[in-house]
Amino acid sequence: MLTSPHLLGIKDLDAESIDLIVKTAKEFKEVLNRPIKKVPSLRDVTIANVFFENSTRTRLSFELAEKRLSADTINFSASGSSVKKGETLLDTVNNILAMKVDMIVMRHASPGAPHYLAKHIKANIINAGDGTHEHPTQALLDTYSLREKLGDLAGKKIAIIGDILHSRVALSNIYALKKQGAEVRLCGPSTLIPKHIQSLGVEVSHDVKSTLAWCDAANVLRIQLERQQIKYFPSLREYAQSFGITRKMLDELPKEIILMHPGPINRGVELSSDAADSPHSIILDQVENGVAIRMAVLYLLASRG
Ligand code: NCD
Repeated sequence: MLTSPHLLGIKDLDAESIDLIVKTAKEFKEVLNRPIKKVPSLRDVTIANVFFENSTRTRLSFELAEKRLSADTINFSASGSSVKKGETLLDTVNNILAMKVDMIVMRHASPGAPHYLAKHIKANIINAGDGTHEHPTQALLDTYSLREKLGDLAGKKIAIIGDILHSRVALSNIYALKKQGAEVRLCGPSTLIPKHIQSLGVEVSHDVKSTLAWCDAANVLRIQLERQQIKYFPSLREYAQSFGITRKMLDELPKEIILMHPGPINRGVELSSDAADSPHSIILDQVENGVAIRMAVLYLLASRG
């Protein structure tokens, strides 16, 4: 059983809980590959997807996971809502809960927003991304996808390449990978790597070629231009030249590595199209596994009672 009624981040999740979520997701992935992809597990549960920030994959993935578990779902997005009229986050959520909602899946631009809610409301809360902080279900689906290809992650070498500074995917992945005993190396321009990040037990490199040669898998992240108020590098063209990954670079490596990306991809910036669509890439497997992981998280939280 999971120890917390919420999934706020990977920081406070222990290795046993990660294993339990992955094991449960494996069973749900089998369900998803059957002709009838649905189970009645969450028939009496109502879930609100509350999104204050843009999302394609994460939102659809949660919604599908809920439907596959037979939950009732409602969707809220901040644009077009009373948030624009000045309603507070707590009022918005309390009004949703008054309609007898059991679980809240929330994406919010402010780091810590789901942690704050968890202190003030009774429903289970799942963090679907809080600003630049954490994105736990993304790290769990990345773990699942890596384990499918590499087995146990202890001692495996995983590179996270790109805009580490603004990425919630990076932080959640660092926590998840370290808890599983993997070696983690971050790679990007020094302006996009947070100071003191080595205190989390990761290495830092600014050389993408040697990082690719070192790793078993590379998780490549998008440049989060929407979170950058100042210029962190001269131009996207220059970034692509220094840190962009091409199919040729992957083909020329001495050993096969796995290429990952959480999406959305900026083709021609962090990844060339021929790299993103190459046999090295497991990007669409990540998306497929995301539904099973979210089913597992929702199911395990709901079954705590
Ligand atoms: C990421 C996000 O929103 O944090 N995407 C996702 O959830 N799959 C990464 C990104 O926006 O670059």
